[in-house]
Amino acid sequence: MTHKLTLWPSGEVLDVSGEENLFAQLKKSGKKIKSSCGGCASCGDCVIIVKSGEDHLSPPGFEELRLLGNVFHITKERLSCQLKITGDVTIDISAHEKKPISVGPVEKKPAVVVRKKSEIEEKAAQVAAEPPKKQDEWFKHWEKPEDNIGKTKQLGGNKRPKPFKSDSEN
Ligand code: FES
Repeated sequence: MTHKLTLWPSGEVLDVSGEENLFAQLKKSGKKIKSSCGGCASCGDCVIIVKSGEDHLSPPGFEELRLLGNVFHITKERLSCQLKITGDVTIDISAHEKKPISVGPVEKKPAVVVRKKSEIEEKAAQVAAEPPKKQDEWFKHWEKPEDNIGKTKQLGGNKRPKPFKSDSEN
């Protein structure tokens, strides 16, 4: 028995049989569906999105659930190599279509930048004109200069230990 398979968004309608999986039938009708495993349910490349007719799909098998998980109600994705239909269905295979190759000149940056002598001299003059950086500023960045005037740094939370009182003193 044949059913109507509508391709979204083109609206193309194919007559497909309910006996064979969609991957094989789409391939026969000249549609490009990505696949690395050739329809063995091991690559997960042949995913299609079901747009309508969810009630007319064969239930997912163990291999399909292992690859896609039990989330069809969210993603609407099925493996076309495992899917047979029992009624009219609309699917989206736009992810499998070839993307148009961009035509135009591709700018390539050279691996080595060649500078003119005048540019190098200009850069050297710029570097020489900059004021020298202070070398010892980095490790005291948390201290403000006014904090250190007339003070010696005290460690240990500025608390002295209480004197020990022995029994003989009491
Ligand atoms: S073709 Fe590889 S999982 Fe369907």
